[in-house]
Amino acid sequence: MVRLAPEWRGGLQQFFKDLNESGDDVFFSPHPTDVESIRRVAAHDGKDIYYLLIEQGKTVGYGMLRGWDEGYQIPSLGLAIHPSVRGQGLGKMLMGFLHLQAFRRGAEKVRLRVNSTNDKALKLYKGLGYVFEEDPHQVDLLVGFKDLGTE
Ligand SMILES: CC(C)(COP(=O)(O)OP(=O)(O)OC[C@H]1O[C@@H](n2cnc3c(N)ncnc32)[C@H](O)[C@@H]1OP(=O)(O)O)[C@@H](O)C(=O)NCCC(=O)NCCS
Repeated sequence: MVRLAPEWRGGLQQFFKDLNESGDDVFFSPHPTDVESIRRVAAHDGKDIYYLLIEQGKTVGYGMLRGWDEGYQIPSLGLAIHPSVRGQGLGKMLMGFLHLQAFRRGAEKVRLRVNSTNDKALKLYKGLGYVFEEDPHQVDLLVGFKDLGTE
């Protein structure tokens, strides 16, 4: 796991290119992915955190906890695993890592939003103890919460 920094922006750009080619941008679009936007996120300096999962120099996962910069107590979690390495436990591992980072920063809960048709992600989240409710703002989304410190 490495904290996203300017030197990793090429890897993140490629990661999004591969994700988009496999059609996953429908489920995962945490921020714009043009070169300038990636540059800005990679240079981010604040309370929110962005991590890359790197294997042999290649970006195979991307996870984030956001909301602290805006003053929220409960961070919002987001993640994606590269299509070439799915189903091997890396998503679960990255979730565990992000939960730990949130807990170490004093969060009592984490939240996330997921498309109600994203079965893989929902199964992963429910297995980790997330409890879901409908998003009052968007009908196709569910909002999940997890209490930390219970893993
Ligand atoms: C969702 C995602 C992160 C899972 O990553 P992954 O590395 O494949 O997941 P893991 O191998 O750690 O699997 C963890 C759990 O996810 C679920 N899961 C993973 N692949 C699955 C599949 N093909 N079908 C059903 N459930 C699946 C299972 O519950 C699995 O637990 P199990 O192995 O005990 O059954 C990955 O599919 C992804 O990046 N998807 C596109 C982006 C996305 O949807 N992000 C979430 C936005 S809210």
